[in-house]
Amino acid sequence: MVAVLAANSPEQAVLDRVSEVADLVTVALDELLPRADGPESRLTEAMRYAALGPGKRLRPFFAIEASRLFDIEERPVLRAACALECVHAYSLVHDDLPCMDDDDLRRGRPTLHRAYDEATAVLAGDALQTAAFDIILHEDTHEDAEIRCDLAARLSLASGARGMAGGQMIDLLGVRDDLGGVARMQRLKTGALFAYAFEIPLILARAGDAHRHALLGFAHDIGLAYQIVDDLLDVEGTTEELGKAAGGKDAALGKTNFVTLLGLDAARQRVAHLADQARAHLDPFGRDAEILKASVDFVLKRRS
Ligand code: IPE
Ligand code: IPE
Ligand code: MG
Ligand code: MG
Ligand code: MG
Repeated sequence: MVAVLAANSPEQAVLDRVSEVADLVTVALDELLPRADGPESRLTEAMRYAALGPGKRLRPFFAIEASRLFDIEERPVLRAACALECVHAYSLVHDDLPCMDDDDLRRGRPTLHRAYDEATAVLAGDALQTAAFDIILHEDTHEDAEIRCDLAARLSLASGARGMAGGQMIDLLGVRDDLGGVARMQRLKTGALFAYAFEIPLILARAGDAHRHALLGFAHDIGLAYQIVDDLLDVEGTTEELGKAAGGKDAALGKTNFVTLLGLDAARQRVAHLADQARAHLDPFGRDAEILKASVDFVLKRRS
């Protein structure tokens, strides 16, 4: 059954904004990503295949939506959000490789190494990562070099050994029977890039401790909830809805996550608890954070 939402409900506003941001980011990425004429065009086409495909653009949505809480320009936020999306796209390309999760389907299409080949997928991931820093460090992003450096430094932290890549390492090694260890893995592999979405407006607004605390608290809870929902969907979702493998693939690969450790019900309860906590972090912003608050349900109820 298709749920009917009141035209002016916060839920409908979230759906509209998510789809607006997805279009905005896809157009901007198309302009920002390199094109080439020579034999290296195979690489630039592969980068475009990975980055311009139909992703939800949820991290850019959070960056742009959170930036509405401050009096800042849109252009730097959009460019930094595109950089974040490049790192995210690279992380998915490498995550799907046979040496990692060995997946054939992503965003409803063949994974990059299936559409091209493994070496091209490795290189496209590498080049998407460096494209992210090209975008951020270009003077069009911000006239203040210190701000550009800060944006770049935070993104490199969120992507590297103490962020996404470190979390992916733990995911591959496997953590056993240890909820704290799983929480740490999730915080690194997914939470760090989610948190960066909020760092973008925080850095650009030169925000103080109270705002940092509130938004990074929200980011922590929503990032963790997002990955637990992803792990639930791996069991409960369908490949048609998700556009990627489902049917308990994580357990079959021997992965440990909140679902494999706690079971479906307790994992769902944890998501609900994180959702309440996430919303409470936004209280200091009052009605200005209404859409962000409503986006928590969007994350929880997603089927794709
Ligand atoms: C998939 O991220 C990887 C996870 C961290 C769960 P998304 O669910 O944001 O994937 P896209 O970008 O919409 O394809
Ligand atoms: C991957 O988590 C998170 C990344 C850092 C890429 P998953 O391996 O669960 O993501 P999906 O399910 O393949 O999208
Ligand atoms: Mg993985
Ligand atoms: Mg995967
Ligand atoms: Mg998954």
